[in-house]
Parts: sequence; structure tokens; C-alpha cells
Amino acid sequence: MSAGIFYSSTSGATKAAAEEIKSQLAPLEAEIYDIEEVSSELLNNYDFIILGASTMGIGELSDEWEDWIETIEKKHVENKKVAIFGLGDQEGYEDSFVDAIGIIYDHVGSMGPKMVGSWPVEGYEFVESKAKKGDEFVGLALDDDTQPDLTKKRIAKWVSLLKDQL
Ligand SMILES: Cc1cc2nc3c(=O)[nH]c(=O)nc-3n(C[C@H](O)[C@H](O)[C@H](O)COP(=O)(O)O)c2cc1C
Repeated sequence: MSAGIFYSSTSGATKAAAEEIKSQLAPLEAEIYDIEEVSSELLNNYDFIILGASTMGIGELSDEWEDWIETIEKKHVENKKVAIFGLGDQEGYEDSFVDAIGIIYDHVGSMGPKMVGSWPVEGYEFVESKAKKGDEFVGLALDDDTQPDLTKKRIAKWVSLLKDQL
């Protein structure tokens, strides 16, 4: 199976998480890309796609993701496995915590991939999140602003759950 991680990062937190996910995926080899540097055509090369985004504005995608998501086509993702992770700040943005995960999930999920990598909401304190559907987040929520010590552990657990779904 070929795996590709596609992320965008403003100050480096999402980039660091993407790199940690790549190392935890071993022995599965994953290629890692900053979406600012590549076209979405590259999604064609992978059967397992991991998308990483921080939430900016008030519950918005970053500018890079705003543009890139519009270039993703059904043919890039349908019948593949797609997982999402996102960085946010549950104290500063309790009403829009990791919304980018939910925005990407709705957009890409509607194009026919098998979405994997949901994650429990326990252990976070927030009011609203577009990433929460039913009782779960639809991707891995990371908060390096207020819970930096949990990031590596959450990634290790999430990746081990993902491996069971591949
Ligand atoms: C201007 C600005 C707006 C933000 N808005 C949100 C938000 O609505 N929801 C959220 O969960 N986090 C929000 N955050 C927190 C970031 O998502 C968080 O700091 C993240 O780790 C940034 O990752 P990056 O540096 O990889 O882009 C915001 C941060 C900034 C600077």
C-alpha cells in the first residue's frame, strides 16, 4: 500500500505532527508533502491519503487549504482510504475547535473515499466543533497550544488504530 501525507502549516505545529505520523507509520513508508509545494494530482499516486490542517480564522481553513481543497477531484480520492488530522486550540477557540477537520471531511468525504481514523472526544474541553459528528471526531484532534504533552501519545495511538483499518 502506498501512503501520502499532505499538510499545510502556519507556524510548524501541523508539519511536526505530519512528520511524527510518518515515523509512527513505519514500516509502512509514507511520503510527506506540504500542499503549498505540490499539485493535488499527486494524490493519484496513493491508495492511503492522510490530510493534515490547522484551523485558522474563526473555524476556517488556512488560505493554502482554501485554495488546495478546491483542486481535489473525485478521481483523486474515490475508492481510496482517507484519514484527517488537525491542529487547534480548545481554550482560545472553544466554539470552533479543529473545525478544519470537519470542513475537509465534508468536502473530501462526499467524493467517495472510505474515511478512516475517527477519534474519541474524551480528553478535550470545547463547546463546538465541526469535526465532531455523533460521539466522535472524524479525524485526529491535536492541540499543541494547550495540550502539547499529549500530542505524541495521541499520534501513536491514532496511527495504531489506523493500521488496523488499512
Ligand atoms: C489567527 C488564528 C486563528 C485560529 N483559529 C482557530 C480556530 O478557529 N479553531 C481552533 O481550534 N484553533 C484555531 N487556531 C489555533 C491553531 O489552529 C493552532 O495554533 C495550530 O497549532 C496552528 O498550527 P500550524 O502552525 O501548523 O498552522 C488559530 C490560530 C491563529 C493564529
